[in-house]
Amino acid sequence: MSNDFKNLVDGIRKSKNISKEELYRIFSCNEEEKEYLFSVARSVSDNIFHKEIYLRGLIEFTNYCRNDCYYCGIRCSNKNVERYRLSKEEILECCNIGEKLGFKTFVLQGGEDFSYSDDDMCDIISEIRKNHKECAITLSIGERTRESYKRFFDAGANRYLLRHETANSEHYNKLHPDNLSLENRKRCLYDLKEIGYQVGCGIMVGSPFQTIDNIYEDIEFMKELKPHMIGIGPFISHKDTPFKDEEDGSVDRTLLILSILRIIFPRVLLPATTALGTKDPLGREKGILAGANVLMPNLSPGDVRKKYMLYDGKICTGEEAAECIRCLQTRVEKIGYHVAFVRGDHPDFI
Ligand code: 5AD
Ligand code: FES
Repeated sequence: MSNDFKNLVDGIRKSKNISKEELYRIFSCNEEEKEYLFSVARSVSDNIFHKEIYLRGLIEFTNYCRNDCYYCGIRCSNKNVERYRLSKEEILECCNIGEKLGFKTFVLQGGEDFSYSDDDMCDIISEIRKNHKECAITLSIGERTRESYKRFFDAGANRYLLRHETANSEHYNKLHPDNLSLENRKRCLYDLKEIGYQVGCGIMVGSPFQTIDNIYEDIEFMKELKPHMIGIGPFISHKDTPFKDEEDGSVDRTLLILSILRIIFPRVLLPATTALGTKDPLGREKGILAGANVLMPNLSPGDVRKKYMLYDGKICTGEEAAECIRCLQTRVEKIGYHVAFVRGDHPDFI
């Protein structure tokens, strides 16, 4: 391998910075160079997380959504979705099952469903907090007001996932209808950080109209936001959306971006996503070997899993939570890592 490429990667590692030209160069790297990049990302990750993989139990509690994002399978215009909502009792039951399985983090994810009022959410959050004092509660329920975010935080939520999707507003407008704006998305993310959440942003790799320049802008935005978590996975088309004929994002490019993010943000929590595992049966393992350190298995009740289809072909919709954990544990150990049954906070929050 050329010394040039090694120097380039080592430069990114030392400066925690990447230029646009360097990003282009990485996207055109050959197999040997790719392996080198992944090994550097891995060593950065192993130094900090010691080959421990953190688990998050994902509870997809509603697939109702008021929004109509062009990429998403549960957009409100999709009339082929069988909609569901979990009751507070059902959500609490998922957490009880999760705790028995060893989860220390619950992620409540849903469409933007305002039939769960702020009061309802606070009630659910405080009840989980009461029953599971040591666990982290993560929310992923989209855009709300700063006041709502503050109330959820005070009720006991610790973390919030809200992918920014793209940091370029023209691109943002090609992925979303007019009532949604990048400006408000960013406002939400900064509010969440100021309130005191551990915050996750992120993108879909290969979303329609995405350019390499856009990805560069995403990295610049992340440097400004300083998120604690970054969720990225390939875009996968869904048959009932305006993007049904668009090409899927590539696993290779997702892995390259994961490794770049690990090198630039050594301590960030970086999941190997379900979308990555959907595009490639070994996608999540490859993600870990490119620097990811988090897995988010599904804790949703079996009968609703197939209804939470953000994209076609989503994996792990037939398995029970216990099976998923066993499966993931085996997979993780096979590549020399191990699952840690801990909260897995960002190092700044320990
Ligand atoms: N392909 C991949 N990821 C998707 N998401 C939504 N739709 C798709 C899709 N078709 C991602 C978005 C969202 C997260 C919850 O799931 O980035 O923020
Ligand atoms: Fe769910 Fe493998 S992770 S079955």
